[in-house]
Amino acid sequence: MRKKIVAANWKMNLTLAQGEQLVNDIVNAGIKLAEDQVVVIAPPFPYLLKVKQLIRNYPGICLAAQNCYSEKSGAYTGEISAEMLQSVGADYVILGHSERREYFHETNAQLAKKIDLALANGLQPIFCCGEPLEVRKAETQNAYVAQQLQESLFHLDAAALKNVVIAYEPIWAIGTGLTASAQQAQDMHAFIRAQIAEKYGREAALGISILYGGSAKPSNARELFACADVDGGLIGGASLIAADFTAIIQSF
Ligand code: PGA
Repeated sequence: MRKKIVAANWKMNLTLAQGEQLVNDIVNAGIKLAEDQVVVIAPPFPYLLKVKQLIRNYPGICLAAQNCYSEKSGAYTGEISAEMLQSVGADYVILGHSERREYFHETNAQLAKKIDLALANGLQPIFCCGEPLEVRKAETQNAYVAQQLQESLFHLDAAALKNVVIAYEPIWAIGTGLTASAQQAQDMHAFIRAQIAEKYGREAALGISILYGGSAKPSNARELFACADVDGGLIGGASLIAADFTAIIQSF
């Protein structure tokens, strides 16, 4: 059965003390996670070890980084490798977030390399895809997302793909307060699953978790998570408020 995942993407927010408080508030909320349910917390790099420590007694809560570099190691001042993330206990790594694509010019080809390095180091990539507003307006979002999948993921073999989580994040919905409707999310998630089925077969497609991201909040999480092909969420803004994030987790 595929996992239901709610992931917190803190982005470049919070001090260490604020982050500790937030994690403590989440773990102390006493949420009961079902066996197939996973909570993922993606703090900024300097807090990874601390957050790892804080969640150590909560097996359903995992640690993610927000990015890694596309080379193995070496003279890349300021960059962080997949191996480093693995060595501090990260379980997941978010790759291809639209903010990284836009502000740091990450390309599909570079993301393919990051995916390989993450997998080679035992990390599960949370691969983000999604279209900008002009693409949605032109109604070409399916082709746009299909290309992102093809160029960054579809070089993998079926065994490797099993360890990938996909997050569909329409760029026009991120941090804007505009959420995709449940129907828009479901349509795209079903399309992504169909693309995987076409390339890897039905069983592989049914096993992969596809998360929705983009202004998900307590008031819309239930409706989004009720969609047949929505297996959870990648949460930005609302993950910074313990009460909102725990309410979203409980929306399953
Ligand atoms: P948001 O961000 O929930 O603040 O829209 C989601 C994301 O960028 O992962």
